Amino acid sequence: MPVKSLIIGSGGQIGSELTKALREKYGMENVVITDIVDNPKDAYFYRLDATDKDKLRSLIEHERPDHVYLMAAILSAKAEQFPLRAWNINMDILFNVLELQTQGLFKRLFWPSSIAVFGPHTPKEHTPQYTVTDPNTVYGISKLAGERWVEYYHQRHGSDIRGIRYPGVLSWKVQPGGGTTDYAVEMFHYALRGEPYVCYLEPDQALPMIYIDDAIRATLELMEAPGNRLRVRSAYNVAGVSFTPRELAQAIRRYIPDFKVEYKPDFRQRIAASWPRSIDDTYAREDWGWQHRFDLDAMVREMLTNLRRHYYPDATLFPGAEPT
Ligand code: SER
Repeated sequence: MPVKSLIIGSGGQIGSELTKALREKYGMENVVITDIVDNPKDAYFYRLDATDKDKLRSLIEHERPDHVYLMAAILSAKAEQFPLRAWNINMDILFNVLELQTQGLFKRLFWPSSIAVFGPHTPKEHTPQYTVTDPNTVYGISKLAGERWVEYYHQRHGSDIRGIRYPGVLSWKVQPGGGTTDYAVEMFHYALRGEPYVCYLEPDQALPMIYIDDAIRATLELMEAPGNRLRVRSAYNVAGVSFTPRELAQAIRRYIPDFKVEYKPDFRQRIAASWPRSIDDTYAREDWGWQHRFDLDAMVREMLTNLRRHYYPDATLFPGAEPT
């Protein structure tokens, strides 16, 4: 029996790729998708504001998914602009879904957390699963509270909920919106357009990142793992690769030597400085065999090759396809 899934927030950076991956695995009709932004071309799309619990309930009762992926959220930088609204949106959607799950409307929930649960007093290198979590952003506070609540629902109601603390995600199809780690994706777009990039972080601000293919694979592997192997019912640390803006710019320059970057840190630098520089993902490795595949250079090659096709569809060769 194929698993039927519902994705809430299917238009976002991760939701859009998750839709594609799940459909490849389970078939188009087994992946129903929703977002607040219209997607008229998709036959299995519902426009839905997931803060509306009654509408969400009707949709779930109608479609009867086995699994729900709650990918809708206001990310870190944007949430700082309207803190209370961001908190309400992030928490309301989560509670709506948690309550519907306790009523037996679906079996398994994926809920994404973030490296934003960590804060200024968290050890910065190889940040462990269990350590100081003192986030000082609205987004981080909502993710930490969410982690506590999903674990509580698991313990209290036996709800099957699985989560990952995503690092910054690099992808080329849909751009991230409103995150602190977005600079890494923006750099590729500027480099390919031949424009200089003004980076809002310090050149040496390392952050944990992951390539989208790895992020999606982690999500699917965790959702398919036997429940009795999972020791973490809040959200797992998952590592990809860590780098600084300077290191990323250098890696891009191996392919586009003229790429120029200027550094003008803004409020996002303070957010980034409070997050880990690298992540220890031992629990994910031990419990469900997690292992990232994309290192910095593989990620840069994938990003440049795919985005080049987007910007220059007629070009046959990447300029300097071999690293200089
Ligand atoms: N990429 C996210 C952000 O920057 C972190 O989860 O907000």
